[in-house]
Amino acid sequence: MRLNPFAGAYLTDPAGVWARLLERDGGVHHDDELGLWLITRHADVRRALADARTFGNALTLAPVYEICPEALALVARIDAPPTTAAADPPTHPRTRRALRATFANTPERVEQRYGGIVRRRVDELVSRLAARAGDRVDLIAGFTAELPLLVVLDILGVPARDVPRIRSWADGQIALIWGCPEPAEQVRLAAGLLEFWHYCQDLVRRRRHGGGDDYVTELLAYRGGDDEVLTVAEVASIVFNLLVAGHETTAGLLAHALDRALSEPDRWRGFAQRPERVPAFVTETLRFAPAIDGWLRVTTAPVTLGGVTIPAGARCLLLIGAANRDPAVFGHPDRFDPDRPDAHDHLSFGHGPHFCIGAALARLEAVTALTRLAAALPGLRPAPGQHRVFRPNLAFRAHRDLPVIVDPAVPAGHRPAARPAA
Ligand code: HEM
Repeated sequence: MRLNPFAGAYLTDPAGVWARLLERDGGVHHDDELGLWLITRHADVRRALADARTFGNALTLAPVYEICPEALALVARIDAPPTTAAADPPTHPRTRRALRATFANTPERVEQRYGGIVRRRVDELVSRLAARAGDRVDLIAGFTAELPLLVVLDILGVPARDVPRIRSWADGQIALIWGCPEPAEQVRLAAGLLEFWHYCQDLVRRRRHGGGDDYVTELLAYRGGDDEVLTVAEVASIVFNLLVAGHETTAGLLAHALDRALSEPDRWRGFAQRPERVPAFVTETLRFAPAIDGWLRVTTAPVTLGGVTIPAGARCLLLIGAANRDPAVFGHPDRFDPDRPDAHDHLSFGHGPHFCIGAALARLEAVTALTRLAAALPGLRPAPGQHRVFRPNLAFRAHRDLPVIVDPAVPAGHRPAARPAA
């Protein structure tokens, strides 16, 4: 079966495509055009994510098409050693240990270490939006793409003035690896990626000569000058990864959550009165509309899934978006229902040895952003006549834009029901 991730229905509403792929041929298909095996069912995607020995990560960050020689020559100059998401054992457990020891990854530690940063950045952006009362604003440029990047830069100790270039490099990396750019564009994006890598190396180099109170300094301290723990190049590589993983994903989650919440005005207004409803809403958003809905693995041995044998050395696209709609796991999977008991079974943060290190941070950002934005702007509403369109990409499902009208007031007759007494 064919999956065209770069055109047609997949760019507006992928759920129909996922449903067809789930239903047929044991949910496992070879797409000749993409040169990828598509794995869709929840049990199979979960198994592949858990089984790092059979499903390796070596090619997870390698372009999904044949990149032109000029761009390839630039990419070849990026000598970032594989760490975390791009690494297999024995490098992966060692570099992941470094991340787990230094990056807060439980709700309690995230709240303690990053809660203040998240609330300060959310409040700044909410005030900036509120100051534009009556205007039509694109929430992607004005909020969702900005917040997670500012937060991750604060954690890493990088000045906010670097936001525009880091965003442009990171967007470029996503388009270069999982998009379908023309050769001239590939060269431009590859040159940007090389510049990005040099920026990360330079950041680490400067911290080595007198660091501050930031994550890069902490990672260097964890290393303790011992290359067997972590090399300096691996520190730079982790920073390189965090600057992309830490914001493009959460930006997607924020966009999906706001898109959904604003399209149901009563729900949006209700958040101001019942903020305790926001966490379940965010969880169901993660299941229903994952920011990463396809992720790559390469088989290291033949493996049989859904009655189909995939050979060794095959690139596989784990369709997380489809797995999250698998009717074998989720009742009425196409119904968006924050009260469903099974929403937590989604695979949007991965599963097993590579499970997302930033899941708790992403949740905190999303819950804080929705709660405070709804409280400040209960009248925020989608601009009329807009259609949802996603950027052509195999892994990241990112909105092209999300135009809204910044109306702080709730229109008469639309006030939410008063909060019942406890
Ligand atoms: C909604 C937001 C997010 C989503 C949907 C998401 C998704 C994912 C997924 C699917 C993986 C698994 C990769 C694999 O199995 O190969 C992953 C891993 C990872 N994520 Fe996230 N992520 C999010 C936010 C973040 C944030 C905020 C950070 C850090 C600031 C982060 C850092 C990482 C890292 C470092 C890994 C690699 C872990 C490893 O390979 O051991 N992510 N993420």
